[in-house]
Amino acid sequence: MSSSVIEAHGLTRRFGETVALDDFDLEVARGSVHGLLGPNGAGKTTAVRILTTLQRLHTGTAIVAGHDVVREARQVRRRIGLTGQQTAVDDLLSARQNLVYFGRLFRLGKADARKRADELLAQFGLAGSAHRVPKKFSGGMRRRLDLAASMILAPDVLFLDEPTTGLDPAGRREVWEAIAGLTAGGTTVLLTTHYLDEADRLCDRISVVDHGRNVVDDTPDGLKRRMGAERLEVMATAPEALEPITAVVASVATGEPSVEPGTLTVSAFVHDPVDALVTAAAAIREQRLEVADLGLRRPTLDEAFLELVGRETA
Ligand SMILES: Nc1ncnc2c1ncn2[C@@H]1O[C@H](COP(=O)(O)OP(=O)(O)OP(=O)(O)O)[C@@H](O)[C@H]1O
Ligand SMILES: [Mg+2]
Repeated sequence: MSSSVIEAHGLTRRFGETVALDDFDLEVARGSVHGLLGPNGAGKTTAVRILTTLQRLHTGTAIVAGHDVVREARQVRRRIGLTGQQTAVDDLLSARQNLVYFGRLFRLGKADARKRADELLAQFGLAGSAHRVPKKFSGGMRRRLDLAASMILAPDVLFLDEPTTGLDPAGRREVWEAIAGLTAGGTTVLLTTHYLDEADRLCDRISVVDHGRNVVDDTPDGLKRRMGAERLEVMATAPEALEPITAVVASVATGEPSVEPGTLTVSAFVHDPVDALVTAAAAIREQRLEVADLGLRRPTLDEAFLELVGRETA
């Protein structure tokens, strides 16, 4: 059995003039959580829709769970689950009734459907709310019920398109925990997200998608190193201090510090932010340098993308 559960090569998909996917490649290891991270319109949903057989591809090949998404769409569908941005659960049925209903849709017998519903309610922390209707659920609970519904047949691959968009921090955390538990049962998860922290927390590997292309594949740590997870920023009080401050920043930075004489600011990406901050602060005190400000700044995802995409395509 191949160690990759998704293998896609050269996927291209256009919508009129728009090139949604442009020679897109993807490889996802069995049993992993793999993230597609990218800005709006990058092509993430298109990739998910092609891999789940919901959308036609123009060129390229994709094998999902051992089957070709074009020639063997039916076999692929039997082995995957999908949770889209719209929730699929019915508001008039209780959580348990919803899951039993989905089980029946998937042709489980009555007793099996009930048994599976109870297992999933327990797995997703919903046993206490089994008899309540999802309309009264919090966003996080609702999303967990959705996840449970897509896990009825314990799919080989579960596709999650923006599983936590619109949830508050507590809801996001609940959903993260539910997703983290999925791979224990052997399911591979492919999820799309805009959130760097989410990808960091959940994913074994991340593909950064931009303009329909897979710009880079890496582990969260590897990606952070490339992006520079955090910047150390030191603001001098006078231009004379810029040089020694630059030397201090350089001693803790992962790359060349950048100096902005206009704002008297020196900044650089650092590997271990707290260590860098403490070391730089100690050096500044030891050398009796005067600084107006000293701190860590996390780049926004936009900045990180610009940094990464600019570098990769250079
Ligand atoms: N059915 C469609 N008809 C026309 N254009 C489409 C269609 N689906 C996607 N597109 C276009 O293809 C591009 C990629 O869209 P896609 O939905 O895959 O991006 P995405 O990465 O999922 O974005 P988001 O983060 O906003 O969900 C966009 O420019 C989008 O407008
Ligand atoms: Mg999308």
